[in-house]
Amino acid sequence: MRDYDIDAEPPRLQVFEGVVTRHLLDEINATIDASRETWRPADGRRATQAARRFADMLRQNEGFQLAERQACEISRRWARKAGWELNGEPPLCVLRCVNSGLPAQSHLRHYDSHILTLLIPLQQAQATQENGDLILYRRQRHAVTAMSNIVAKIRLILLRNLPFVIRRAQTFRHLAEHLCDRIACVPGNVYAFNGFVTLHANLHAEAGERRSLIVHYYDPGLTAGLSTVPRACRALRDRLLDALQHTRPRA
Ligand SMILES: [Fe+2]
Repeated sequence: MRDYDIDAEPPRLQVFEGVVTRHLLDEINATIDASRETWRPADGRRATQAARRFADMLRQNEGFQLAERQACEISRRWARKAGWELNGEPPLCVLRCVNSGLPAQSHLRHYDSHILTLLIPLQQAQATQENGDLILYRRQRHAVTAMSNIVAKIRLILLRNLPFVIRRAQTFRHLAEHLCDRIACVPGNVYAFNGFVTLHANLHAEAGERRSLIVHYYDPGLTAGLSTVPRACRALRDRLLDALQHTRPRA
């Protein structure tokens, strides 16, 4: 595993290689397979008790603990330097399962509401031109204020509603112009980046299914409700689906 000088500027991307064991990946994927019937949200995304449980399972592994601690420490220092107060909210754990039937979930350029994002690939889509890899833009935004953040969010929401073919063409044009990089998401590795200042998206999954556990840390609260309202709605939906899953009779 690479070590980083936490006093230095945070790297755009940290890759912690070989942190999650094959055994643990198999266990998590088997749990997802077993709950497939009820796990079909239209956007392929859920913040569930299961996602939190998977994150806790990862934390039993010393390598993951170290990666998480290091990434969190860098982010806290960066936030302090930026002069932001961080509240003590627990991390938001999200499970994403995206397949070829969900093109609306690909090529969606966005900034996260949280400072630190840990991306833990659980399963790769099949190797084709588009296999769900992460797209990370090179230029990070600076001097983010509440107003500039809201303006950026609204602009990106409008762009996200463009047809898939246009969003896709934009991604490949930006790759050709070296504005962004394609990051191969390998199960077993953990990818840490500052999604609050780094524009990012995912390629489409043309075949098979891309599964990821995503853990977001430290929301500086600069969205004036643009993120909290949809997040609260999604949390309510996820709780209802969780309750439904637990009340459904087992076969
Ligand atoms: Fe994101």
